[in-house]
Amino acid sequence: MLVLGIETSCDETSAAVVENGRHILSNVVLSSLEQHKPYGGVVPEIACRHHAELIDAVIEGAFLKARRSIGQIGLIAVTNRPGLIGSLLVGVSTAKGLALANDIPLVGVDHTWAHIYAPLMGESATRFPFVGLVISGGHTDLLFVKDFDEYEILGRTTDDAIGEAFDKVAKILGLGYPGGPVIEKLAKEGNPSAIDFPKSFLEPESLDFSFSGIKTAVLYYVQEKNKFQTANYKLQITDICASFQDTVIDVIIEKAIKACESKGSKLLVVGGGVSINLRLRERLRKECGKFNVKVYFPMTQLCLDNAAMIAGLGYHLYKKGQRADLGLKVYV
Ligand code: KG4
Ligand code: ZN
Repeated sequence: MLVLGIETSCDETSAAVVENGRHILSNVVLSSLEQHKPYGGVVPEIACRHHAELIDAVIEGAFLKARRSIGQIGLIAVTNRPGLIGSLLVGVSTAKGLALANDIPLVGVDHTWAHIYAPLMGESATRFPFVGLVISGGHTDLLFVKDFDEYEILGRTTDDAIGEAFDKVAKILGLGYPGGPVIEKLAKEGNPSAIDFPKSFLEPESLDFSFSGIKTAVLYYVQEKNKFQTANYKLQITDICASFQDTVIDVIIEKAIKACESKGSKLLVVGGGVSINLRLRERLRKECGKFNVKVYFPMTQLCLDNAAMIAGLGYHLYKKGQRADLGLKVYV
């Protein structure tokens, strides 16, 4: 079965054609990131307009690249949650129009879930249950995943998401938006042990996260250093990046391993924009290896928001009997 996936939850306008939930024929992603940069974060109105202007061309591009046409599509899968309401509405309205005009079934997909499905797209079969970890700009969720449509929330952030922490720390350091890529790059030249930023683990057994404290700690550190600015300040920025990055990675590692232990799982599946970070990948793999926990990450092009993972998960939801109609709603 060929599935057309549509994703417009945030600043990426994306469409994909995927066969049987796993074989990606095309995955076109057009980001409005450059237009948000001057504002230091995603501006919902700009994102929404970008989707409205480009969604038709992106879908056409996905068909051209896949060498397929709408007549060959057996299902349309669209992100209907969570995300920016105006942005979601563009994708969902387009999907409804295409489904109605071409008499194609429709399913709504939770894009957080799709982030967990993304690492599994290269696998021939999915082995449930496992522990899932979503680390993105909007989420830091630990889940116990029992099936494509069944999961238990083990922990989530009580304040900022991890990607949000990268973005806010980058803003404090004047490094622009988004923060993740630039912090990862500068961290390579810094000393991760240079600064002892606080790690927030909350209650001893808690699997919830908190990242707002470290952001404030970085802010105070920078304000203090600015009072005595020295010639090697640039060097200190690399140290701040490396120390911040390793501090949040330490927390992620500890909680992820604790979640696997509590559920007796030897499989950890990690997705979302922050999972592209190579330092995180390397350290998480190494530490999980000590507990015989195998870690799956998505291939690079499936880390950030994209429609291939939506089409992929949508296929399985359809097989499990899910159907949406023209009443499909969007949720923040
Ligand atoms: O999954 P995503 O595209 O959007 C959401 O669903 O939120 O994730 C975007 C987030 C941003 O916060 C961005 O700073 C972060 O992913 N990110 C990174 C890296 N690249 C992107 N975080 C850490 N290291 C990176 N290399
Ligand atoms: Zn996302």
